[in-house]
Amino acid sequence: MRLIFLGPPGAGKGTQAVRLEAHFQIPQIATGDMLRHAVLEGTPLGLKAKEYMDRGDLVPDDVTDALVAERLGMNDAEKGFILDGYPRNVHQAQFLDDMLEEQGARLDRVIRFEVEESEIIARLSGRRICGVCDSVYHIVAKPPKVDGICDLDGATLLQRKDDSEDTIRHRFEVYHEQTSPLVQFYELQGLLTHINAMATADEVFQKLMAVAEGSR
Ligand code: AP5
Repeated sequence: MRLIFLGPPGAGKGTQAVRLEAHFQIPQIATGDMLRHAVLEGTPLGLKAKEYMDRGDLVPDDVTDALVAERLGMNDAEKGFILDGYPRNVHQAQFLDDMLEEQGARLDRVIRFEVEESEIIARLSGRRICGVCDSVYHIVAKPPKVDGICDLDGATLLQRKDDSEDTIRHRFEVYHEQTSPLVQFYELQGLLTHINAMATADEVFQKLMAVAEGSR
């Protein structure tokens, strides 16, 4: 099963991708997580990506295309994947189509998360992440057992630098300008399904399961 999760920042894509990954045993491929690790490790790629990410701009396509091409070439992606945060513009979508075609593979479904902007602000401003295992929490909707500490590995939880109010606003602009044209791109391919993600994480998961099962 090859799925793409499409939607604005903070819509809940990562939260749901982790759940689907566990259920279907296919990897979540999250370019944002991959880039954040590169930044933390101080690799040349991370150093290049950091300034774009801190501003809330898209990292150059050659960087993300190369990351995704390498990741999709790994064995565990052969039976499927959930792309979370990629593609982010029409160039990337075209690059992905070409890459899959070369492999004789095709996408099964693109799922667009719909959430109102006011709800997204609340989700992003309360988000906390574990820099070690990438677990995502929310101070109200999904608090850790011990305040500020990851349930899984005991690491201190962090607030993402790009979750500040100004940067969130800029990420929305970038989403509307560069990523939302993908709605039409995938609609024309007959691949798009919209889900109303203004619900609890459990309810959204049930909706996604129904779509994913129907796409097999
Ligand atoms: P990335 O990490 O992909 O950020 P994003 O797309 O802005 O998405 P988010 O991670 O902010 O949100 P999400 O939808 O995953 O929500 P989450 O599940 O965490 O990208 C970061 C940066 O990297 C980009 O700005 C760019 O610079 C760069 N980048 C990445 N990919 C790139 C690419 N392809 N090309 C170029 N640059 C790229 O949920 C949010 C919060 O809400 C959490 O606290 C969660 O607990 C809570 N929550 C989730 N679901 C619910 C619910 N149903 N009810 C209540 N709370 C909920």
